[in-house]
Amino acid sequence: MIGTSMTKGPWLDLTGRISAVTGAASGIGRAAALALAEVGATVIVLDRDVVGAHRVADAITAAGGIAAFGQLDVTSEEEWVETGLWIGKTWGNLDILVNSAGIVFSDRVGDEDIEPYRKTFAVNVDGTLLGMRMALGFMRAAGKGAIINISSAASFTGSSIMASYGASKATVAHLTRSAALETARCGHDIRINSIHPGLIQTAMADDFYGIYERVGPPEAVEAVMTTGRAGRPEEVADLIVFLSSDRASFISGASIAIDRAKSA
Ligand SMILES: NC(=O)c1ccc[n+]([C@@H]2O[C@H](COP(=O)([O-])OP(=O)(O)OC[C@H]3O[C@@H](n4cnc5c(N)ncnc54)[C@H](O)[C@@H]3O)[C@@H](O)[C@H]2O)c1
Repeated sequence: MIGTSMTKGPWLDLTGRISAVTGAASGIGRAAALALAEVGATVIVLDRDVVGAHRVADAITAAGGIAAFGQLDVTSEEEWVETGLWIGKTWGNLDILVNSAGIVFSDRVGDEDIEPYRKTFAVNVDGTLLGMRMALGFMRAAGKGAIINISSAASFTGSSIMASYGASKATVAHLTRSAALETARCGHDIRINSIHPGLIQTAMADDFYGIYERVGPPEAVEAVMTTGRAGRPEEVADLIVFLSSDRASFISGASIAIDRAKSA
């Protein structure tokens, strides 16, 4: 109200919240880690690339934030258990998990080689499921929390050149919805959502350019894969921060596209 002396806090503040981000050495995960730290969260930077994870944690602390880093291969059940024990011992809780680690290969349903499928599902699906399990241990005990799984706009349609990738990301969305229902029906205030980016300028975008190389140079690929431009990792990070916060208190089990209408 104009003319009153009512003091207001910031619109969104994650001070005191403990967050963990997988795949945080690069791209969307890195941007999410930096953005969560910017609004006050403690960020546990996880990646199989420990040098990159260290670098991101250093960037956060250099900017005045709170961060730690750890090496984690998201496909390893054992490493997830160790990570959970470390988090429990060091912070005693986990309020936010962002599952961003992911890989893509070019493959087709009719291919004879099943390895790309196995590798893709191991990282994108097993990694996300194991992450949710670890986080839910803390969140069920606390009765609250937020998980954001990075799926893809590729989950919405079939693909004649990335069959396993799209299938893995559709599976991530389905697991997200199931987990969200499980927690909501138990009466917990645990929100679990998947987000579905279109083409975003990261190292993975280079993989997409390679997969679509028959189309031409990156500009030609972007003309096919976007509605005019690729997104920036920071634009995706803003959605992740919002979903991590109490501002998104009634959003759970949602599959949210962030692709400038590409999949509309
Ligand atoms: N870039 C895009 O256009 C785009 C579009 C839609 C969805 N996505 C999804 O967003 C997420 C992030 O991708 P990005 O674009 O930031 O890619 P990126 O390649 O920049 O980052 C991926 C990160 O995941 C890590 N990683 C890979 N396998 C891992 C494993 N087994 N254990 C731990 N870490 C592992 C890598 O080391 C890397 O740091 C992925 O799940 C991806 O599928 C990306």
